Amino acid sequence: MKPVRVGICGLGTVGGGTFNVLTRNADEIARRAGRPIVIEQVGARRDNPDCDTTGIKLTRDIFDVARNPDVDVLVELVGGYDVARELVMTAIEHGKHVVTANKALIAVYGNEIFRAAHQKGVIVAFEAAVAGGIPVIKSLREGLGANRIQWLAGIINGTGNYILTHMRDEGRAFEDVLAEAQALGYAEADPTFDVEGIDAAHKLTILASIAYGVPLQFDRAYTEGIARITADDVEQADNLGYTIKHLGITRRSDSGVELRVHPTLIPKERLLANVHGVKNAIAVMGDATGPTLYYGAGAGAEPTASAVVADLLDVARDITTAHHYRVPYLAFSGVNDEANAL
Ligand code: HSE
Repeated sequence: MKPVRVGICGLGTVGGGTFNVLTRNADEIARRAGRPIVIEQVGARRDNPDCDTTGIKLTRDIFDVARNPDVDVLVELVGGYDVARELVMTAIEHGKHVVTANKALIAVYGNEIFRAAHQKGVIVAFEAAVAGGIPVIKSLREGLGANRIQWLAGIINGTGNYILTHMRDEGRAFEDVLAEAQALGYAEADPTFDVEGIDAAHKLTILASIAYGVPLQFDRAYTEGIARITADDVEQADNLGYTIKHLGITRRSDSGVELRVHPTLIPKERLLANVHGVKNAIAVMGDATGPTLYYGAGAGAEPTASAVVADLLDVARDITTAHHYRVPYLAFSGVNDEANAL
């Protein structure tokens, strides 16, 4: 069977993880996809010492990958807004499917990107954009597809949860734990995105869009981070029987969709209060299922790579089974006033 040829752009934490998972588990992945998924080219400004790229075509210009006729799927792992947007739009123009872990890109430019992908008949997949290794987007879109989702709430920034956990358990200072999260590859390139709640707001925007079938509305999210929480706040909360957690919460009502991220006080015995370290957990209320909970590593090289590769499997299966390209994220192709009014 013809292989799916992948071009990876960005070989940092997630790019390196994706490279390694794809090469290490190549046989298993090929069996599941029904065809091999091969790395055709890597575009990155810097090498990653953890990746053996012997025999792989390398370029320093990521746009080479977007234009390469031998690449079927571009994996965008460069992060950020503007270069990533141009890269993804170029890949779509050249008829390539796109897999991305970039929540900022999807939350802010997703409506435009999905429209372009729809017109071109290609897939844009982004499981890795939310909650690292937890397949929460697939769960919302597929597993809970029969439900009217009423609300969703969860810990969706691993760095923030890592900081709050270690401040509480070890009485350490905020800056000290943040530096550790950065060293472990959990934090964003600009960690203010993590600690000011922007990263969580990006992810919540994406989750709400899928849960309710509405356009992405990042500008409407109330956004407050954990940067002003002190060791004293954490201790006081503990004395009162609460744990401070940073939550993303979205609810739909007759008057619209509420989107908010901010620190909350959660009674210590509740499940979300017991999600520690870099772990994420998302509770989703469906009208048929009742409450469901999704838990796992919310950041890090291989958990996030797992989600990237799962999307590559989806792309490979669609090409294999359907023999035509399609946009699976119908929520985004129905951008209209009716959806806006929800
Ligand atoms: N900086 C993000 C986090 C990475 O800590 O959750 C995963 O999206």
